[in-house]
Amino acid sequence: MTENDFIPGHHNQTFQDGSVTWESPSNIALVKYWGKLDHQIPQNASISFTLNQCKTITTLKYLKKESRRDFSFEVFLDGEKKTGFEPKVKTFFERVEVYLPFLKDYHFRIETINTFPHSSGIASSASGMSALSLCLMDLEKRLLGKMSKDYFINKASFLARLGSGSASRSLEGELVVWGEHTDIENSSNLFGIKFDYPVHKNFKNYQDTILLVDKGEKQVSSTVGHNLMHNHPFAEKRFEQASNNLSLLKEALKTGNLDDFIEIVESEALTLHAMMLTSLPYFILMKPNTLNIINKIWEYRKQTGSKVCFTLDAGANVHVLFPEKEKLKVGKFIDQTLSPYCQNGQFIEDFTGTGARRVEHLT
Ligand code: DP6
Repeated sequence: MTENDFIPGHHNQTFQDGSVTWESPSNIALVKYWGKLDHQIPQNASISFTLNQCKTITTLKYLKKESRRDFSFEVFLDGEKKTGFEPKVKTFFERVEVYLPFLKDYHFRIETINTFPHSSGIASSASGMSALSLCLMDLEKRLLGKMSKDYFINKASFLARLGSGSASRSLEGELVVWGEHTDIENSSNLFGIKFDYPVHKNFKNYQDTILLVDKGEKQVSSTVGHNLMHNHPFAEKRFEQASNNLSLLKEALKTGNLDDFIEIVESEALTLHAMMLTSLPYFILMKPNTLNIINKIWEYRKQTGSKVCFTLDAGANVHVLFPEKEKLKVGKFIDQTLSPYCQNGQFIEDFTGTGARRVEHLT
């Protein structure tokens, strides 16, 4: 498929007004996306677990307007108007207008709720951009009259990617691959696809407890970080390593080998941060407590034989990953040993999910 496949034909219908609601989850990458070309074309393929509890619920209300001169929209978070979000949405609309030619026909009211605390340091761009893209696709489907399920989901992921790369991986579950990879059939740089290979029962309902180490604003945005991979001395090797890691992970997911899984996932997390440490300008997103937590996890694993491990995002928070059958024991370990390293002792318990869904009646 190419970009042109997402430019629609003539719309059959027109509607005066309407409203649609979608909820879409966050995701956590196991093999990381770090480094991109223009418009979120990734420099290596990535794979993530889709989450279940951390999600964005977006209602898109649309009202036909007279003039097609400009975009017209308002954004609300938890019922409060947020003019601060408008530039991001405007950039997004400009980028996707060619694929959604009806955007200037309507005034949009975008109402968004996140299930996780706003200032938790959890990126809301993946869940937020995917939820908004799904709402827009819902409207497009209505305007066109009909649309195949595959086209709907691929294009929604394609649009989400244009908003934020990792958002392309939030629509389905429980594992999604985004980026071309020789071992993953039909993989694409343009949108995420469901990982359609055998997955061992060890990974069923895999747990992800997010430790909130630092809830502050990121000092370096992901986009800036990605761009520092241009001319990065280790870039080529890194992209090659990520690609190999995805092949290795595919095998570990099949066999259920948790030791291999742990090695790949932790190495990916540390390499991501190693790329930040070795870019110019260099920067550090981990905090002392990020390292304290990692050391405690390693200690606990050595002492107990547990299969708990960690991964990191572009921030200081730690995602603690473990099999469902260790839920009780690791839960206790997190409560007693790890939570003191979190801001106000806060953490969020999540697990793998199946992706976004349309919400029929918002209660
Ligand atoms: C470290 O998707 O936030 O979380 O495409 O510029 O919006 P943009 O970046 P973003 O980058 C996420 C990077 C990461 C790794 C990952 O999710 O794969």
